[in-house]
Amino acid sequence: MQHQPWVEKYRPRTIEDVAHQEEVVHTLQSALASGNLPHLLFYGPPGTGKTTSALAIVRQLFGPELSKSRVLELNASDERGIGVVRNKIKGFAANAVGSGVPGYPCPPYKVIILDEADSMTGDAQNALRRTMETYSKVTRFVFICNYVSRIIEPLASRCAKFRFKPLQGDVINARILHICGAEGVTMGPGSMQVLSAVSGGDMRKAITTLQSAVRLRGSPVEQATILDVSGSVPAAVVQGLLAAARSPHFSRIQQAVTDLIADGYPAQEILLQLQEALLADTSTSDAAKGRILVRLSEADKNLVDGSDEFLQLLGAASFAQRTLAAPAHG
Ligand SMILES: Nc1ncnc2c1ncn2[C@@H]1O[C@H](COP(=O)(O)OP(=O)(O)OP(=O)(O)O)[C@@H](O)[C@H]1O
Ligand SMILES: [Mg+2]
Repeated sequence: MQHQPWVEKYRPRTIEDVAHQEEVVHTLQSALASGNLPHLLFYGPPGTGKTTSALAIVRQLFGPELSKSRVLELNASDERGIGVVRNKIKGFAANAVGSGVPGYPCPPYKVIILDEADSMTGDAQNALRRTMETYSKVTRFVFICNYVSRIIEPLASRCAKFRFKPLQGDVINARILHICGAEGVTMGPGSMQVLSAVSGGDMRKAITTLQSAVRLRGSPVEQATILDVSGSVPAAVVQGLLAAARSPHFSRIQQAVTDLIADGYPAQEILLQLQEALLADTSTSDAAKGRILVRLSEADKNLVDGSDEFLQLLGAASFAQRTLAAPAHG
């Protein structure tokens, strides 16, 4: 398949190939050897291998054929309210398991993967508690999420928990080089550093950015192309917002934020880069930086919860303006 996204094409098929998550890999390998799988909870930032690891372990346990009947995978695009938990999940959990196939461990249980479990309602999660307990002999659960605090404690405490770490620059570089080699693409001078900087530990972002850059301008991949396609906000734009926040006029930040949104820059990315610009800024007191950062983090959380981008940015920028205008001490 020529047009297959590279994130899928180069998704590790086995546990061993999952980079940088040694603790998880080690645990899953012993699960493979013994056939004994605890309930699992994978959490951590995007693009670090959570879904990949869950898919790999079930493939290695059951093989491609048996996986169809032994594994139920639900993600956020599936309806997962309390009704589904009562009917679909419970129905699947209650089924007895048939015999295995040669060549794979095929332990005598099924696996239910609930990807993006942090978007399940509290009611639905509560309804799962009984299901987990009642059918624990024949069913294992794998919960996957970005925010572990959104999984209710009774579920979390039944699982072996694994935090997936953001991937380090050298790990991303190695994987990108591997893909470049396989695709016959070369990286221009400095491009690799820029790519791992913009991806911020997210391997999916690194790979999709690379593929978009190649699609847009071909090989060798230049730094500027990566910046263009990565969705990162140009430094001058962030500095402009900071300058507006230093001015005494509310209308200036209002205008700056209006322009940013009109240009289509993602609000969370702006907050992130604003935070970096602020930290690097030597003319702001540490106390003021601290107060503004708390406010930026609140805006970030609100955005995750689905708040309006314009209002959040305006709120954060106007807070920064008031803080920067206040007397330096206190
Ligand atoms: N640890 C890793 N080793 C090798 N490749 C990885 C790793 N993590 C992610 N990737 C690559 O990034 C892609 C996305 O990974 P995956 O779907 O596992 O992310 P995730 O942790 O589930 O993220 P999300 O929280 O956004 O769902 C994979 O297809 C794979 O190509
Ligand atoms: Mg995932």
